[in-house]
Amino acid sequence: MAQLRIPGPTPCPDEVLRAMAKQMVNHRGPEFGKIMNSVTAKLKTVFQTKNDLFLLTGSGTGGMEAAIVNTLSPGDKVLAVAIGVFGDRFATIAQTFGAKVTPLKVEWGKAADPEDIRRALKFEPDIKAVLVTHNETSTGVMNDLGAISAIVKEFDKLLLVDAISSMGSVSVPVDDWRCDVVVTGSQKGWMVPPGMAMVSVSEAAWKAHAQARMPRFYWDFAKAKSYLEKGQTPWTPVVSIAFALDVALDMMLKEGIPNVFARHARIASMTREGVKSLGLPLFAEEKHASQTVTSVAGAGGLDIKKLLKIMREEHQIVLSGGQTTLDGKIFRIGHMGWVSEDNIKEVIATLKLVLPQAGFRS
Ligand SMILES: Cc1ncc(COP(=O)(O)O)c(C=O)c1O
Repeated sequence: MAQLRIPGPTPCPDEVLRAMAKQMVNHRGPEFGKIMNSVTAKLKTVFQTKNDLFLLTGSGTGGMEAAIVNTLSPGDKVLAVAIGVFGDRFATIAQTFGAKVTPLKVEWGKAADPEDIRRALKFEPDIKAVLVTHNETSTGVMNDLGAISAIVKEFDKLLLVDAISSMGSVSVPVDDWRCDVVVTGSQKGWMVPPGMAMVSVSEAAWKAHAQARMPRFYWDFAKAKSYLEKGQTPWTPVVSIAFALDVALDMMLKEGIPNVFARHARIASMTREGVKSLGLPLFAEEKHASQTVTSVAGAGGLDIKKLLKIMREEHQIVLSGGQTTLDGKIFRIGHMGWVSEDNIKEVIATLKLVLPQAGFRS
């Protein structure tokens, strides 16, 4: 069977696809209101939060922009913890809207050291917010968000989190970790196609919102809140994705959220062991390896582009290459959302077959 094993979009179960084929409803009517309320309540369970939670029509990057423009003003200082492509993107968005960004850059493949964040916050006490990628999809590294949040809150700063590729697959207890804005995207661990960003907003984020002067219109959380009270969104929402998410969340709740997290941890570990058994090195330091995507470094004469091509064309298994400077240097196996042990066994067995054809000599 063909397998899409990239770190989002992920495959979707048939029940989810069928939900998307339903006829349209009035997005200002009671039927859609019921779905919005149902999806929002179920998402709050997965986010482990009592904070406000909004469904925004747009991709994850839109949610990242929303986090920034709703809480900051031009000239505000932010600490941007960047451990890969998406951390850099968060910093760039802040900069684009006029924030003064202090970058905390970490070598790709490694996680941020929370103590470096403490040092940076001590050194620049006027920093207002910290931007963090929980799970850096480009390198396959997961930051220790619990430890980072403890430090950020010790300094009483706002914590804006890109949990786009971890939420729903890994436990991110938003309230316990006092994360102020947390963003995820429908095409990641949710078993749903792209099109929706889901964002939680804390009390402290609302206080920041009242002062924030960056330009915002489409992403304004205040508009999202006032419409949610009527079971609506301010702008026409991506209705079919809401149908799909409602069904996907029921599937996740039926499996049991702790079981969903445990499945991801088990499959991630199995993927790493499988890769090592092939004689290939992991790219990410293993103690901070992502539970939703495994990054594999090139070695032993391996032509990564050729490998991906043969996997795709001859075996219908689609893996991801590296992004920007990692292009041709790593490949990535996505294992988030609708994924089983058998899926990964097939990927590893096929890699074993194809690696010699792509020049690999262990
Ligand atoms: C960690 C992370 N942040 C941000 C994004 C950007 O999300 P989107 O492509 O939905 O805009 C992605 C998507 O790959 C991601 O994995």
